[in-house]
Amino acid sequence: MEIIGQIVAGGFGDILIRQKSKGAMELGELLVSDAKDQYTIFQIYDLKYGSQIAKESLEMIAGMNLEGYGASLDFLDPDLRNYILARAKSVVTIKRTGIHSPKTLPDFFSTLRKITNKDLAFIQKPQQPLYLGAVRSGSKLMPIDVFLDGQKVFSHHILLCATTGRGKSNLLKTLLWSALDKGYCANLVFDPHDEYFGRNEIGLKDHPQSHEKLEYLSPEPPPGARTLKINTTLLKPWHFDGAIEFSDAQKDLMYTFYNNFHLEWIENLMISEDEGEFYRKETINVVKRKLMRLLSITVAEDEISYSGIFDQTAGQTLNDDIIRALDASKTIIIDTSSLSSAVEILVTSIITSEVFAKYKHYRKTGELKTKPVVNVILEEAPRVLGKEVLQRGPNVFSSIAREGRKFNIGLTAITQLPSLIPKEILANLNTKIIMGIEMQAEREAIIASAAQDLSADDRNIASLDKGEAIVSSTFTKFALPIKVPFFDNYAKAHIQSAPKEKKDFTGIKF
Ligand SMILES: Nc1ncnc2c1ncn2[C@@H]1O[C@H](COP(=O)(O)OP(=O)(O)OP(=O)(O)O)[C@@H](O)[C@H]1O
Ligand SMILES: [Mg+2]
Repeated sequence: MEIIGQIVAGGFGDILIRQKSKGAMELGELLVSDAKDQYTIFQIYDLKYGSQIAKESLEMIAGMNLEGYGASLDFLDPDLRNYILARAKSVVTIKRTGIHSPKTLPDFFSTLRKITNKDLAFIQKPQQPLYLGAVRSGSKLMPIDVFLDGQKVFSHHILLCATTGRGKSNLLKTLLWSALDKGYCANLVFDPHDEYFGRNEIGLKDHPQSHEKLEYLSPEPPPGARTLKINTTLLKPWHFDGAIEFSDAQKDLMYTFYNNFHLEWIENLMISEDEGEFYRKETINVVKRKLMRLLSITVAEDEISYSGIFDQTAGQTLNDDIIRALDASKTIIIDTSSLSSAVEILVTSIITSEVFAKYKHYRKTGELKTKPVVNVILEEAPRVLGKEVLQRGPNVFSSIAREGRKFNIGLTAITQLPSLIPKEILANLNTKIIMGIEMQAEREAIIASAAQDLSADDRNIASLDKGEAIVSSTFTKFALPIKVPFFDNYAKAHIQSAPKEKKDFTGIKF
């Protein structure tokens, strides 16, 4: 056992360890303290210098050295004189009876050793595995894969946050790849950067099972894939919540048309000239203008034409097709990269609302038990889950965050700015995958809402490198430090190890 430090002071949650010379302790590193019949894992959250020499003397010697007097500290054994002190917190205690939260302090002056693979043997693969990466001790990779219970984790929502460029998309690609062939889940991905399918690079289309398990919809599809078209009959007035703002009078007008004309409400509104019993002409003109711009509709002499993704004839079965694919535990990627932000939110809202309504229906009919858990992936989540949007009222995404788990449908919300999401929604996102976050306010928001006490982890989170993450979840005993593999290598390794009847992705087969 390689001893690397000894406890010299501190208290519960904050023990001070003197590092053995050349021990090279790291922020986030895991250490082990052994006791009779049990061992406890500690994690370092702060590092500082210690010295046997008085501060004044050190300053004096440094001054002499800098001013050319050639002073040095050689009068004491170098390994004894100056050293590094680490602050650590206990993370988990493993006893014969199982895994426990630590409740006792290790013996005073006891030694700590490096963690070994065997110490982590308690991390097992659940029946419905969701792969996230490998365990990490500081920046050192341990060859132990981390799988969470995907059914629970998906249905209780995930928050994935990090400063730009720290590897959120890479993590999600890896997660989606490993989940693609799993029958317990279906993923609905709204992809504003068109980065998951892998049009021009390696992506989910290259998965050995993509021809059976992947669907890709895009306004500009590659050969063989299906065009994203949304029939105007699928639009409901409430889908616009969060996409663009309407005044109360304008909303009333939209609901009046919806109630009167049902599926044809948009068409009727577009050609309507007259004021009604409950609305004024100006209101109708404003709503028309807003909808025409948003939906790329033009009207000339009662003739309506469509130039965007909305259409009067095409795209009628979109929602049914998506639900059928989700029922078959597929992954559906919807490329929204060419859409304006408002249209993108509208599309996301239309599809998610229908899926949510269907799953609510499945619960009523008792079919829910036979359905996979649906995971809806939202990039830049504060656009639909932000305080500002939700101040105007709840939307389908906040409803899913609050009660989706009852209907087996969960969100994966991705953001650089968790502080923009209201506290009660953050608290409902039960698994937090925290990658490097530069801004302190953002770290505070996530620490305050995490399942485990991460109050000592501020520095740890700030110093996470690309691909490094901390997973804090109500479904893990402690906040797990992980390293996500680089997707391209992960995917290539899987392709090579998979049976050799690889077929090309041939597009949508609804
Ligand atoms: N685990 C990893 N190992 C090696 N390289 C990585 C890893 N994760 C990400 N990268 C690299 O870092 C770059 C940024 O990653 P990524 O696009 O996933 O970041 P992001 O957090 O999604 O950024 P943004 O906020 O801009 O969407 C990519 O070029 C990717 O190749
Ligand atoms: Mg990204």
